[in-house]
Amino acid sequence: MSDSALDVVEFLLTTSVYSDDRSLDENDLPPAIRRVFWTGGSGEDDESEETDGDGPRGRRRRGGIRRPLSATNATARAATGVDRPWDAVSELMFTDRDEFSGTITLTQQDLAERWFVERADDERLAANPTLAKHFEDHESVDISYEEARERNRPIQADRVWIDGLLEEYFSDEDEQEMLDLVDVRAPEEVDISLDDIVLTPGQEAEIEKIAKAIEHRDYLAQIGLREIGKLLFVGPPGTGKTSTARALARDMDLPFVEVKLSMITSQYLGETAKNVDKTFEVAKRLSPCILFIDEFDFVAKTRRSDEHAALKRAVNTLLKAVDDISLIQDDVLLIGATNHPDQLDAAAWRRFDEIVNFPKPDSGMRADILEVITRAMDIDEFDPYAIAEATEGLTGSDLRMVLREAVLEALTENRRVLTQEDLLEAVAGFEERDNLKNMDMIEGDHDALVAGGDLGKASDGGHDHDHSHDH
Ligand SMILES: Nc1ncnc2c1ncn2[C@@H]1O[C@H](COP(=O)(O)OP(=O)(O)OP(=O)(O)O)[C@@H](O)[C@H]1O
Ligand SMILES: [Mg+2]
Repeated sequence: MSDSALDVVEFLLTTSVYSDDRSLDENDLPPAIRRVFWTGGSGEDDESEETDGDGPRGRRRRGGIRRPLSATNATARAATGVDRPWDAVSELMFTDRDEFSGTITLTQQDLAERWFVERADDERLAANPTLAKHFEDHESVDISYEEARERNRPIQADRVWIDGLLEEYFSDEDEQEMLDLVDVRAPEEVDISLDDIVLTPGQEAEIEKIAKAIEHRDYLAQIGLREIGKLLFVGPPGTGKTSTARALARDMDLPFVEVKLSMITSQYLGETAKNVDKTFEVAKRLSPCILFIDEFDFVAKTRRSDEHAALKRAVNTLLKAVDDISLIQDDVLLIGATNHPDQLDAAAWRRFDEIVNFPKPDSGMRADILEVITRAMDIDEFDPYAIAEATEGLTGSDLRMVLREAVLEALTENRRVLTQEDLLEAVAGFEERDNLKNMDMIEGDHDALVAGGDLGKASDGGHDHDHSHDH
């Protein structure tokens, strides 16, 4: 019996059980099925009354799953990826299809259940809380409902849920400005995991701590420990601050809300403070989530200089919002990042309860980073330690750039297999470019960059483009 039949029967049983058992909610559906039946907020008409009531933790929202879940070829295909769902199950004696509506039904649910439970392994049930609950007491089933529910990704981590929420919060007019300022990602959209990042033991310890704090936040609230959950990532460009924050979101199934502070200057100033508030509001609504505020040094810079009053107001709003938000009360983990810790004033520092240092990698770390970024590449006589020795002072981001150059160079010779020699040459090329860049910075001669052709645009790390507000 093919797996597609099993997939489709799982889908039919899930829709049927879910439709009948009203104690189940959206977090009992596997994300692939939930996505198909999710109806987001669609603007004007308030649909909340027709949906299944309150959202997680009793918050009202517009999106929801409406019962009964209808199983048709189209919904089954979307949820299971099986091309012709009805064909996959039409031979089974407990299935039927209504020619007119296209609905696929189980004519004898008990037969279907027996058929299914004989074939489904625990792994499959563990990924489907609805069915885990239904079959929990069956003798051959070793998975508890609670376990499956614990493992299932929460609705807040789905893109559809996030979109519904954003739609509810931002009208068309606000939208453009707001989307310039914040970038919201579902964990499923983050393409990096902590396994892809080489961390120092200190960083690993901090991440471990925060993961535990998130997991046990009820307990922390109970014992009154509230000063936790605001991290500041400090380190030079390209050392993995942004990547680590994103990877944390993905690995912990938390939506990721990213704000670039310098963007708030590019907005219509009167709106800025309002948008800062909205950003935090979004984070609270998306909670549990991670709110990542990049370029935090921008705060200090703005407070010092004689900036536009509206901008100062916005920055003060931001600081106050940072004060008010809490991992324990709001389920929002705040991560700030900066390249310029020296520019942060006391007001900024004291708002964070843990500082995580992102130093430039030492030789051992560089070798590890090289291993990670070349995982999928073919390299003859690859010796990461030799490359690490030759790349003193380079960051993870620099190493990526070196590898990119080596790959492109080899492609110009129609080669997909690299050699150690290619890598060493790319390192030399990188250093040459780095020297030119530094020369330019010392002399402040920007024409040199222009005349140097492609040198300028590749030097996104390390270079201080600070001409935006020191007029
Ligand atoms: N320690 C590391 N391990 C693996 N990859 C790394 C590491 N450090 C940097 N990288 C890679 O370098 C690239 C740039 O990293 P990232 O954007 O996270 O740096 P950053 O510290 O946020 O820099 P910036 O301060 O410029 O924002 C990413 O592709 C990242 O995967
Ligand atoms: Mg970054």
